[in-house]
Amino acid sequence: MSLPFAARRAALSRLTGAPVLLVNNGERSRNLPMNRLPFRSDSSFLYFTGCTQPCAAAIIEEGACTLFLEAPAPDDALWHGSQPSLAEQAAAVGAERVASLEDLEAACKKHANLLSLSVPDPEMTALASRLSGQALAYPGKNPDKLVDAIIQLRRRRDDWDVAEQRKAAVVTTKAHLAAMRATRVGGHERQLAALFDGVIAAEGATCGYQSIVTVRGEVLHNHHYIHPLQAGDLLLLDGGAEVASGYSSDVTRTWPVNGRFDLRQRAMYALCLEAQKWGIEQVRPGTRYRDIHFGCMKIIASGLRSEGLLRCDAEEAVETGAVGLFFPHGVGHLLGLDVHDLENFGDRPAYAPGRKRPTQFGARYLRMDLDLEPGIVLTIEPGIYFVPAILHDPTLRAEHLERVDFEKAESFLGFGGIRIEDDVLVTEAAPEVLTAAIPKEIDALEAVIGAGLSAEERFFA
Ligand code: GLY
Ligand code: MN
Ligand code: MN
Repeated sequence: MSLPFAARRAALSRLTGAPVLLVNNGERSRNLPMNRLPFRSDSSFLYFTGCTQPCAAAIIEEGACTLFLEAPAPDDALWHGSQPSLAEQAAAVGAERVASLEDLEAACKKHANLLSLSVPDPEMTALASRLSGQALAYPGKNPDKLVDAIIQLRRRRDDWDVAEQRKAAVVTTKAHLAAMRATRVGGHERQLAALFDGVIAAEGATCGYQSIVTVRGEVLHNHHYIHPLQAGDLLLLDGGAEVASGYSSDVTRTWPVNGRFDLRQRAMYALCLEAQKWGIEQVRPGTRYRDIHFGCMKIIASGLRSEGLLRCDAEEAVETGAVGLFFPHGVGHLLGLDVHDLENFGDRPAYAPGRKRPTQFGARYLRMDLDLEPGIVLTIEPGIYFVPAILHDPTLRAEHLERVDFEKAESFLGFGGIRIEDDVLVTEAAPEVLTAAIPKEIDALEAVIGAGLSAEERFFA
């Protein structure tokens, strides 16, 4: 497949009708100048240029791109090996022209109406502001016309993007399977985290976000790996590979450390899985994403009522937000070059005009409310959690005293959390689950948990 960048630039110029200055991030120090954090290009810069050079810039005019690159320092070859020439770097990504970064300011001065964009790196955002004469800030302060064009293009995938997203899913599948097979009572979260991240690295990819590998899955974005794995624990692993093009997966699986769900875990897991599979089935053109969220909530509410955790019927539990005490986040989000794709532009990419976030606890974290169209990639990730901070919250307790059996809910403290998350492509017909090869049915999971060498054996034997 040929590189997509020239066609993307042509579309950008058509949509904006103006020259565009894009800047990349620079490198950041970790603790001293020579010791740097891993570098990641800004996603929009990457999308239109394919260039992964720190501090690079591009002027895109009538579809053609001039790439401005830092010339290698004289001693770069000594410390970093021989460097490709600027012309070779531009040719590798199909940029029409190349120049030295020193020429960027003079080139910008030739344009009166440059549109430009903020990036995570504050110094490069300041440069883009100065050269374009606009007050940009990251995240969110950008010209609407440029943001709308970027959203329109990045939100809908072409075949090239989908192929890249599939590559990320293949690596993610290997990493999840490795962690499942290596799980043992007596192991440790940090060993599984190292194995998961290590498989991704061994495949030449990086983690799209910090992997969540925890038996305290009720902490939604738990980034500590401090717990030993004990019989009776549920392990929640939310992790995804990002391939060289920048596309990422975002997948969660939850499984029992000792390889068999107990009765209570089985009931809650089956309920979460029922909601997730129903949600995926709804991923079709024209479906309103918010309806998937509330539909999943209703399924979970109905199951929690059967388990005696809710006292009211499912409709009331959804309407009043009572079920949000157990499912306190949105059902998913856009996925692509960023794990929450385009979220640096606020709600504009993921909320259709005129739609606002719900205000209710739980539903207010819904990151998306679009009518689905073919080419969108999104996640479906319902969860069920027993969160002390929620169940002990005096305001939520008072509000839902009649609807929630708090005594019963308290008996679940320590249970942890379940989330099941897949990456789904909206097609003209049935949804395509890009991450379908990662086991999630109870039998399939139980067959694979602990079926290989333990993480400890893999590392140290
Ligand atoms: N991995 C973060 C999320 O699922 O949204
Ligand atoms: Mn997600
Ligand atoms: Mn996730």
